[in-house]
Amino acid sequence: MLKIYDLRCNGLIQAYGLTSSSICYSWKIQGKNALKPVKYSLKVIDERHILIWEKEVDAAELNLLSVDYDGPELAAHGCYRWQVTGYDSNGERFVSQSDFTIGNTDNNWQALWIDGTYERKFSQDQTNVMKIFTGEAGPCEKPDEVLNPPICLRKTFQTNKKISKALAYATAHGIYRLSINGAEVGNLLAPEYTSYDKYLEINQYDITNFLIGNNHCIGAVLADGWYTGKIGLLGIGDQHGERNAFYFQAHIFYEDGTEEVVVSDTTFKWHTGDWDYADLFIGEKQVPGRLEDAWTSPDYDDRDWLSVNATSYSTEAFVGRAADPVKVIRTFEAVDIITTPSGELVIDAGENIVGWVKLTVKTTTDTTIELTHSEVLDHEGNFLMNILGQNKNQTDVYELKVAGEYTLEPYFTFHGFQYIKVQGLRKEDIIKAEIVVIGTELRTTGSFKCSDPMLNKLQENIFRSQQGNMISIPTDCPQRERAGWTGDMQVYAPTACFNMDVYAFLDKWLTNVELEQSPDGQIQNITPTMDSDKYIARKEGDNFASAAWGDACVIIPYTMYHKYGKKQILSKYYNMMKKWMDYVEREASSSFIDGVDQLSDEMQEHHKYLWNTGVHFGDWLYPSSENPFGSADMTKEYVAPTYFAYTSGLMAEISDILGMAEESHRYSTLSQRIKEAYVAVYFDEEGRLPVELQGLYVLSLATDCCPEDRRASVARHLDTMIKENGYRLDTGFASIAFLLDVLYENGCEETAYKLLNQDQAPSWLYEVKMGATTIWERWLAIMPDGTRTNASYNHFAFGCVGDFMYRRLGGLYEESPGYQKVLVAPDIDCGLSWAELMHECPYGEIQIRWERKAEAVSVDVRLPIGVEGILRIRDEEWVITQEHYELPVAVTC
Ligand code: BGC
Repeated sequence: MLKIYDLRCNGLIQAYGLTSSSICYSWKIQGKNALKPVKYSLKVIDERHILIWEKEVDAAELNLLSVDYDGPELAAHGCYRWQVTGYDSNGERFVSQSDFTIGNTDNNWQALWIDGTYERKFSQDQTNVMKIFTGEAGPCEKPDEVLNPPICLRKTFQTNKKISKALAYATAHGIYRLSINGAEVGNLLAPEYTSYDKYLEINQYDITNFLIGNNHCIGAVLADGWYTGKIGLLGIGDQHGERNAFYFQAHIFYEDGTEEVVVSDTTFKWHTGDWDYADLFIGEKQVPGRLEDAWTSPDYDDRDWLSVNATSYSTEAFVGRAADPVKVIRTFEAVDIITTPSGELVIDAGENIVGWVKLTVKTTTDTTIELTHSEVLDHEGNFLMNILGQNKNQTDVYELKVAGEYTLEPYFTFHGFQYIKVQGLRKEDIIKAEIVVIGTELRTTGSFKCSDPMLNKLQENIFRSQQGNMISIPTDCPQRERAGWTGDMQVYAPTACFNMDVYAFLDKWLTNVELEQSPDGQIQNITPTMDSDKYIARKEGDNFASAAWGDACVIIPYTMYHKYGKKQILSKYYNMMKKWMDYVEREASSSFIDGVDQLSDEMQEHHKYLWNTGVHFGDWLYPSSENPFGSADMTKEYVAPTYFAYTSGLMAEISDILGMAEESHRYSTLSQRIKEAYVAVYFDEEGRLPVELQGLYVLSLATDCCPEDRRASVARHLDTMIKENGYRLDTGFASIAFLLDVLYENGCEETAYKLLNQDQAPSWLYEVKMGATTIWERWLAIMPDGTRTNASYNHFAFGCVGDFMYRRLGGLYEESPGYQKVLVAPDIDCGLSWAELMHECPYGEIQIRWERKAEAVSVDVRLPIGVEGILRIRDEEWVITQEHYELPVAVTC
């Protein structure tokens, strides 16, 4: 019997309040491969149970298990059910269904933006980068004095007819927590982090069941969030605006066919609540009980509340749900509460996570509790604040005025941590310490395990770092910057797509990347962009888009196409990519390194194809460099042109996929021309580059910017460099994702595996050996002597090695986009005795397990229905027709 599961509307688990102009349904199937679905029938039924659309599709004609809606226009605020019925070859039916709703596509926004009438305090954040980097500007010393309290907003209203449906819409400049008649509705940290002036998420909530009786109350708490709060590397506030505001509009539909709209306006009142302040970086201070809990109920006496200010900020940037929301994804009890050698009380979560601690405590007198979060303890086991910088306090404070039992947790902040220093409590006062992990709701689609426990731990760490850095946007790290650095995501994209279904999440973020693209085509290094980014290492007039970071606008959609099989991700962002490539081409042909005019005409001509000037991050953080900007300066001249050659090549492929033959030809000629120029300008007779760094050879080989006849010797040279470095890598952000494959594909498999299995720093397994539970930003975040540095311990970029493991060790390759055809080719000579993986591709679950036995290799493969596969072991191939293979492969151990 076949089963349909993981139904998605527009790729979402929670498809509520959609405003997208197109609707698409997708699903996966499970069952025996012999039972093929023959056709599918799709239906959409409206809330009156009327069938409004029906479509039959031949299973054979479906490219992916997805069908676009092409029925009558869907109504604003409409609630629908969609149903998919499959028919198998035996004539059996299998059915599944799900709901979706449409947002306010009429755009008849009637509400006013509202805010409390208080004078906002402004903190004088330091914008001098050097002062921030040298530690002169550190944690906020008196948050009470410089931060503003979240405010409570309320309004009552009546209904006196039978309600058939009520939908509320809410958004904010800042973040809000919404309740209707005291019951909480809404998601965490809403609205999420976007390029607010161009894209502001407005969420829809079904509040029908909350409107009981005739008298109702809307209650909202409004806090700073990303809008006015401290954000980014520099930890500066007010990056998106200087005041918060709240926006609310509910559409109440009565059974008699009438409709009423309840809006935020000057009839709302405001008051301060249980918070003195709440900031994403600094933390939150609560004084529980200061405001009666009943303030969200209709009969609460709000006579002493104040009137709100109403403003007419725009509603133009409103967008309905396009990715699933942030939510609590896991809770577990802290593994330990310790007293450190220096006598401090510290909660140990047991792993480095992102979220907060929910603490149940009892107090006998008035108490102030301070909880400070950090990712590591020092060498002696004492609490150490590893995240330094302006406003990076990561400290929550609870002022408990009355003795009693409390359950405490923050609402408007989150932290990256494993350890929490507790001040103001004794160990015996803590009844329970529950760790709450938050993240964007993303379906887990991948797992990998093998006979090496260290590699298994590495995979766990990769997964955990992915989870911790996918909170609304893909971030570099969840504590120090929380910024949507394009380069980090680009490097990590293939691994990300294996582990989780990140399609809608990345699609939404890419929409913002495009919205932030400058008119001249430059891609911001961070999306959402913040002004403070501009203070970093740039002079007036400098370019801001860095190679390998800006290139994300091509590489990420390209990766998504291959992993998810949807062509539209390429067509949707083609303009952005093209604008970016045009910018790079212009830069290359118009800006030259010193001395070019002294060169021969031929050489001058070559230089027109080299993007080798401007501000770039280069092969960021290659470990032998003494400092990050040093790593950038040393390598940028080589990283930028090789990436230019690479992305031009991708553009040729993308244009071809989209049927644009002329463009495809243009880009492949361009890519070829860049490669020739790079070889002519940078390679000497011996096949050496002017700068002897591993990463630069890796990039040359990976992007074909390498003399064709000397490929083998260049690879040998790279191999020798690695051997001479004690089989340790020396690659940074721009080259690392290519490193192992370049070695592997150029006859240096052994070196690739030695690097992967290396446990001396810098290496992946060194981190594991040192007890890491996440992927570090820097290989030597903990030094061999145990010294803890101030790096981030949760950066997913170097976790990109996952992609290599899933392919080479696990054996899974997508032979056609979306895994419609797969190649199962585990390298049984990789040194492992077995490996297994699961990947849920758009068609369903792929499972591979291989094991070396005395004189054979057994391979178990399960492919989803409709997916074809080839099994390749060493040089032998079999068409996959069964689930178990016992292959008499000569095995040398
Ligand atoms: C971030 C990176 C980012 C980089 C730019 C850092 O501060 O943490 O991960 O890509 O800056 O080079």
